Amino acid sequence: MTLTTEQKNDFLARGFSRRSFGRLATIFAAGSSLPFYNEFAFAQVAIDNRKLPPGAVKIDNNENPLGPCNESLEAMRAILPQGGRYMFYLPGELSELLGSQEGVSQKYVQVHDGSSAPLLQAVLSFTSPTKPFVIADPGYEAGSEAAKFIGAKVIQVPLTKDYAHDVRKMAAVENAGLIYICNPNNPTGTLTKKEDIEWLVANKPAGSVVMIDEAYIHFAGKDEHTSMKLVAQDKDVIILRTFSKLYGMAGLRAGVAIGRPDLIKKTRGFGINWNPVTSVTGAMAALKAKEVIPQRQKINAEIRDSTIAFLEKKGFKVIPSVSNKFMVDTRRPTREARAALQKDLIYVGRPWPSMPTWIRVSVGTKEEMEKFQAAFVKSFA
Ligand SMILES: Cc1ncc(COP(=O)(O)O)c(C=O)c1O
Repeated sequence: MTLTTEQKNDFLARGFSRRSFGRLATIFAAGSSLPFYNEFAFAQVAIDNRKLPPGAVKIDNNENPLGPCNESLEAMRAILPQGGRYMFYLPGELSELLGSQEGVSQKYVQVHDGSSAPLLQAVLSFTSPTKPFVIADPGYEAGSEAAKFIGAKVIQVPLTKDYAHDVRKMAAVENAGLIYICNPNNPTGTLTKKEDIEWLVANKPAGSVVMIDEAYIHFAGKDEHTSMKLVAQDKDVIILRTFSKLYGMAGLRAGVAIGRPDLIKKTRGFGINWNPVTSVTGAMAALKAKEVIPQRQKINAEIRDSTIAFLEKKGFKVIPSVSNKFMVDTRRPTREARAALQKDLIYVGRPWPSMPTWIRVSVGTKEEMEKFQAAFVKSFA
């Protein structure tokens, strides 16, 4: 593909050389087929991507075992026979609905097939060899892979002792291109106070953009903890939301980037796929179903907290979580610990190098967590 003059000027202003134009054009054109893409790609690195054996307990990718809510299922079933139509107006309806619920204009909401695409495109758009990508450690590292791919430096800032983002250290990174905050954080399941995020936005280097990934915010209390106010105030902020987690639609693909129109334009890269009518329709039905968030938040919290209480009673250290996953110290190297659990068909998350003996456990059904507990005690107690 050919770069426009505007694109070339943007790359030069970010510190890329003219020599890199060919490579950049290829990267941007590849869009969602990029090799470093998402949780799935990481899972491929950490475990193989074969279909898991029958009876496997799959608590490795922070999926929702409940799947889509009934309202979404009904709406998607009803729209299926019309699947021969593009229905170009549908994503606009989703933007309007989500925008009105969150107090921002429809123009601020860009619909994507999940939130991985806008995350990766923002890294490609706002970082460069002279504008680093700033992320917590441990953090959701998809963006780091994209940054490395285009030659941008990745600055990892350790979480504080309470497992929050260290906003002061993150704001101090000179000439940051994109500062990525995951709230609640993946893998730790911990919150960063919205006052601290506001401080970061007020004190970040001029010209840098703050991305706040709220993939898991529905589990923690969306209205209390969201940073949406910063978007409404037209700050240099992009918020990501996804329907993959609480709404149980990971395989169906729907997500949004929310921010000033000039910023969310950058999450589209060089174009965007038409959104599937099924997932957009399912997403709208989920947003209209008022009970879905409180019901699922409660189910998740009860199963999570009883599992954590069990592990703590057995003497294991667990990081307190407000999300649909938590980390526990197995006191064995993570790879070994995962292999031990896999013998009992329990599949947990990939390793994080800065937490070499911890595993990340996604919250499954009650029955799945009982199997996990039994296998855990057998291997590590
Ligand atoms: C923090 C975070 N952001 C984004 C994503 C991407 O999710 P999706 O592309 O399914 O919206 C994930 C997936 O696990 C995630 O953990």
